[in-house]
Amino acid sequence: MIYFPRTGLAQQLVAALTGQSLFGDGHNGVFLSAPRRTGKSTFLQSDLRPALEAAGVVVAYTDLWSDTGRDPATLIANAIGNALQPQLGMVARTAKKAGVDKLSLAGWLQVDTSKIGKLDGLTLVDALRALNETAGKPVALIIDEAQHALTSERGEAAMTSLKSARDQLNGPGAVNLMLVMSGSDRDKLMRLVNSNAAPFFGSQVQRMPPLGPDFIAYVASLIEAQLPSLAPVDQGALQRAFEAFGHRPQPFMSALGEVLSPLSGISGRFESALLRAAAEHERNDAVQMESDFLGLKPIEQAVLWRMLEQGSRFRAFDSEALRFYSELLAQPVNAGMTQRALESLRQRSPALVWKSARGEYAVQDSAMHRWFDERRKAGDWPPVPPQVQRGGD
Ligand SMILES: Nc1ncnc2c1ncn2[C@@H]1O[C@H](COP(=O)(O)OP(=O)(O)O)[C@@H](O)[C@H]1O
Ligand SMILES: [Mg+2]
Repeated sequence: MIYFPRTGLAQQLVAALTGQSLFGDGHNGVFLSAPRRTGKSTFLQSDLRPALEAAGVVVAYTDLWSDTGRDPATLIANAIGNALQPQLGMVARTAKKAGVDKLSLAGWLQVDTSKIGKLDGLTLVDALRALNETAGKPVALIIDEAQHALTSERGEAAMTSLKSARDQLNGPGAVNLMLVMSGSDRDKLMRLVNSNAAPFFGSQVQRMPPLGPDFIAYVASLIEAQLPSLAPVDQGALQRAFEAFGHRPQPFMSALGEVLSPLSGISGRFESALLRAAAEHERNDAVQMESDFLGLKPIEQAVLWRMLEQGSRFRAFDSEALRFYSELLAQPVNAGMTQRALESLRQRSPALVWKSARGEYAVQDSAMHRWFDERRKAGDWPPVPPQVQRGGD
């Protein structure tokens, strides 16, 4: 598996987070969105984390999708606890040498890092302060798939604590707590920043750029080095194929592996075969979404349709929504029926619908919006089931 380092992007973010950029408010938190499987977690862990560490920052990382069975608040607390543990060990050793009473930090030694964020333990604010003081370094907390925090009340409260920690630890000219939050869905990540009640009201969500021409050039150079007879590789074609794979390195590289394999049996340039594979991949995605949609009950289809059409304006139970469902189904639909439909859309695996602790709903996978928009534009909405074949008997 090849890995293309993104040092430039990491450096830009380090500068923004440490407050060195002239403009922007990265020191108040950086919010990055990019679709699933486009390399967010890889970037945060393999590029951003080491770049921050090299700049003298102690880093705590957690991915709220890593264990969806656990409360997001617990995952955040554990990440801070795991970063704090080794620091406490160091303080303990220094304290022994120096005589405990000489060290103002000695108080932190009592801390049970497994109880952070629990009622009998340290609050998140205290824990981050402890980490900052014991390490003697600024702290960066990276929360991957941060929107998931909003699906639980404790998670939402944790986000509010983080904002308060940021405000307490940072002052003019001093950035002691940096927050990086990423998300696979821009609309959901926006809920952290875009209303008065949102924990990080006023911050901006930025799109994390997808892997670009430098990645493609790197892949092309690897191909040319291994299979010199294929040089020069058509980078434009590679780029188009990568786009058709939704800028996802993994399916792109695996299709590339197939067309480059001596066993592939293709004649002609591998680039054309790659483009065909990419087009087929796009079609398969659309076919999957269509069959998911057609497999739903009519009322579930109606609710999902409304959600796709309304996007972030979606209100599941308002009178216009109920009228929409009723007209579509040609029978009255009430809030209770809608509620049941939403629940069953949420309970499917994989879930089609997402719900926040405040009762806001959205489609789980934002790729569905693109699928809907494209079909709409093509005058091909709603999907209709394939004609039922009449069997002759
Ligand atoms: N810079 C990169 N170079 C090569 N492959 C990458 C790179 N970034 C991500 N990938 C691959 O893409 C896939 C998805 O990456 P991941 O970081 O999990 O995406 P996300 O967190 O956005 O869902 C993984 O298989 C990973 O190995
Ligand atoms: Mg990820």
